[in-house]
Amino acid sequence: MTAASRLDRMIARLTTQRACLRRAADLIADLPGPVIELGLGKARTYDHLVRLLPGRKIYAFDRGIHCPPDAVPPGDRLVLGEFDDTLPAARERLGGAPVLVHVDMGTADRAGDSGPAGRVGAMLKDLVAPGGLVVADREMGLGAWEALPLPEDAGAWPYFMWRKSARG
Ligand SMILES: C[S@@+](CC[C@H](N)C(=O)[O-])C[C@H]1O[C@@H](n2cnc3c(N)ncnc32)[C@H](O)[C@@H]1O
Repeated sequence: MTAASRLDRMIARLTTQRACLRRAADLIADLPGPVIELGLGKARTYDHLVRLLPGRKIYAFDRGIHCPPDAVPPGDRLVLGEFDDTLPAARERLGGAPVLVHVDMGTADRAGDSGPAGRVGAMLKDLVAPGGLVVADREMGLGAWEALPLPEDAGAWPYFMWRKSARG
């Protein structure tokens, strides 16, 4: 057996997401503020964040609802529309700057994702609170921020963690 199977790759992706979200939850423990999930999808990672961060306001963004009814976020924590349209007003909607943004927006077309991911990254530069984190499934153009190593228990899957300077 040579190349990783589709099952292997799915396990690697989910293992990586779980490990990175756990690390992110630890890193923001002392930072008050809301959290954004960019890409509600089937709500796997949103639901995980809700359990990792009890009491934290977590807002999910997506262009549509693709998850089971019992996983849909409360109406006041759900922002529907294109990221290009919803992110510019996010700070007002959240009532403050997010201390963690988890970006899970990728498609099977990695090359095609680079344009949308770059636009989202550009919007996050100002949006995220000083000292806040972006955890992402794509390169976001945040090279000027501190790139954090992935946790040792992450899988063999490309993922990214950046921290914004505490000076803003
Ligand atoms: C990979 S799925 C998210 C999976 C989800 N985090 C989970 O764990 O189940 C990506 C989601 O991002 C949404 N999405 C991608 N690009 C978007 C954009 N530009 N604006 C709004 N939603 C977008 C898609 O509709 C899709 O539901």
